[in-house]
Amino acid sequence: MRIDVVTIFPAFFDVLEVSLLGKARGAGILDVRVHDLRDATHDRHRTVDDTPYGGGAGMVMKPEPWGEVIDAIAGPATEPQDAATDDAPLFIFPSPAGERFTQATARELATEQHLVFGCGRYEGIDERVFAYASTRGRVRLISLGDYVLNGGEVAAMAMIEAIGRLVPGVVGNPESLVEESHEDGLLEYPSYTKPASWRGYDVPDVLLSGHHGKVAQWRHDQQVQRTRERRPDLLAD
Ligand code: ADE
Repeated sequence: MRIDVVTIFPAFFDVLEVSLLGKARGAGILDVRVHDLRDATHDRHRTVDDTPYGGGAGMVMKPEPWGEVIDAIAGPATEPQDAATDDAPLFIFPSPAGERFTQATARELATEQHLVFGCGRYEGIDERVFAYASTRGRVRLISLGDYVLNGGEVAAMAMIEAIGRLVPGVVGNPESLVEESHEDGLLEYPSYTKPASWRGYDVPDVLLSGHHGKVAQWRHDQQVQRTRERRPDLLAD
């Protein structure tokens, strides 16, 4: 999978060099390219923002640098019908005003060939950038949750990790992806390892019993109980 990231803070993405995603990059499974939006500016101050038309607080990201970077990543304009196909890149603009990112979104996006994350700062990106990007590929505005971050970088990082680990070959043991929170609509069951007794806390007897059926039942009951206590909204869904 190819992933391009457009940002004014490329250093945010240095951490993609470590851990499982770093390994996947080294192995050629993930081809991640980070672009500094300021490299597509042509003034002495490398300006990427300006005041909003219509007034109001804050600054808006100017369209011109975005246009140049989109051209550089996606190549010349395609026919409108080609931009809408699965072969065209999928542009993701992290935004608190976007659709909600969930594990289902991560699963869906893990099947894509080419994702482009456009990280906005300030009050957002000039709206015409989204229309322009849609001449080169599909466009989605996606929110990490109902809270506001200072920019799209942290949200893009979270999405890249959630998506990247579902790309075949990134996580060594794919079975470990199955029994996780949100994979079956429930929170994950509690896990324990050795020693069986630690500072007065004991591992539940059933896990030491060797009885697979009882273990599976206990884990499922724990999932339901935790989900009811911590995330009743998931049970309602
Ligand atoms: N940018 C700022 N806040 C955000 C959020 N909650 N999700 C995605 N991108 C964001």
